[in-house]
Amino acid sequence: MKILFLIIVSSVLATIILAACPMNYLINPCHCSDGRITCDGEYSYNLKNIFTKLNRTLRHEVDRTFEEFVLNNTDISELVDDVFGMIRFRKIRLVDALSLRRISGNAFAKNGDLVEQFVASGESLLGEDAHSNDLFDAFNQLTNCKRIWLNRNRLRSIPTVAFGKRANSNFQLEELNFNKFSSKNGNIRSVGNFAFYYLNQLTYLYLSHQRINYLPSNAFDFERPSNRTLYIYLGNNKLNNTSFEKGIFLNTKRPVHLELYWNPDLTYLDEKVFAPFLDQNKQNKISLQDNPLTCDCNSYWMVRDKEKYQDQLSNVMCKIGPKQSFSIDLIPFDKCANNGKKRNKGKLTIVN
Ligand SMILES: *[C@@H]1O[C@H](CO)[C@@H](O)[C@H](O)[C@H]1NC(C)=O
Ligand SMILES: *[C@@H]1O[C@H](CO)[C@@H](O)[C@H](O)[C@H]1NC(C)=O
Ligand SMILES: *[C@@H]1O[C@H](CO)[C@@H](O)[C@H](O)[C@H]1NC(C)=O
Ligand SMILES: *[C@@H]1O[C@H](CO)[C@@H](O)[C@H](O)[C@H]1NC(C)=O
Ligand SMILES: *[C@@H]1O[C@H](CO)[C@@H](O)[C@H](O)[C@H]1NC(C)=O
Repeated sequence: MKILFLIIVSSVLATIILAACPMNYLINPCHCSDGRITCDGEYSYNLKNIFTKLNRTLRHEVDRTFEEFVLNNTDISELVDDVFGMIRFRKIRLVDALSLRRISGNAFAKNGDLVEQFVASGESLLGEDAHSNDLFDAFNQLTNCKRIWLNRNRLRSIPTVAFGKRANSNFQLEELNFNKFSSKNGNIRSVGNFAFYYLNQLTYLYLSHQRINYLPSNAFDFERPSNRTLYIYLGNNKLNNTSFEKGIFLNTKRPVHLELYWNPDLTYLDEKVFAPFLDQNKQNKISLQDNPLTCDCNSYWMVRDKEKYQDQLSNVMCKIGPKQSFSIDLIPFDKCANNGKKRNKGKLTIVN
């Protein structure tokens, strides 16, 4: 067992050759330990100069590839074009980069393809309208990145075709999270057309804890088919009963699990939007945890077709009075059931 473990570990290590730390004076005021170069402090300095200088002292390419770059500086406001020069990192992490306002669209142009993970934690000014296109251009350089996690920032929308600005990029992104570490809502209100279209490997799309109130029908369209389930988290937003354009989720080309918890204005799921979604693929699922519906006749379809959808709809609760909620199974929908026949009978039935 132990031997097998060692073989696995050593073969993994053999494939990724990382440089040892340079002497700290070579990268001052940044510093390095365990292959991680950290640039911290409370005053601004020129990162690009530091990496240009470091490059001059390193002869071989293997010496220029480090495990991680950490920006933990509260005054640096910009990552400029080609900020790392020939220095390469597998991970980029921003920690409380409070003044960081702009990441140039070309910041990672040369060596962005080595980055596997981009994580921003704490607060930053990233995503202000004036620079949000730059930010996505920069993300478009990270073609082999598997995970992008953002945190408290100024992003107000996800642009149209946010990924896919370079043709044939073959993005490896699996996890995209716009609010990973905070329970405070972000500022995203809208998602552009075909925003994630070229992210064919995407598995976890986390758009919860924002202010989204409208989603166009092609927001979640994808280029290529896949059998891998895509998890879309839309919990804690401003979604209401007309926020989903008809046809949405019908061109994902893969199974989708949709998480809709805590959208208090979402009083029912529109049959015209959500029944086609559930019908299209038996593996598609919707969870409504902590989002009790107003169970009037708009919700009747979920009970009428209960057997058909029993494995696909979970946690459907109905709001009864201000505080209480019950499973939709306990709600009588008698008057709705007659609704479909009312014309045939020539009898007017008032529902609701
Ligand atoms: C980095 O160093 C290498 C070799 O030392 C050199 O060929 C290259 O031009 C340098 N690149 C930059 C951007 O300074
Ligand atoms: C970032 O800087 C703060 C303040 O100097 C320090 O407390 C914290 O440990 C640093 N975090 C990292 C990940 O370097
Ligand atoms: C639902 O959201 C849309 C889009 O923001 C808005 O225009 C509409 O007024 C909302 N409807 C209700 C009933 O709140
Ligand atoms: C999905 O699975 C089916 C059945 O196993 C297979 O025929 C199909 O080629 C797969 N599609 C993709 C895109 O992998
Ligand atoms: C949509 O939801 C709002 C409250 O969120 C409600 O006032 C309105 O009646 C709903 N629309 C329909 C058609 O039920």
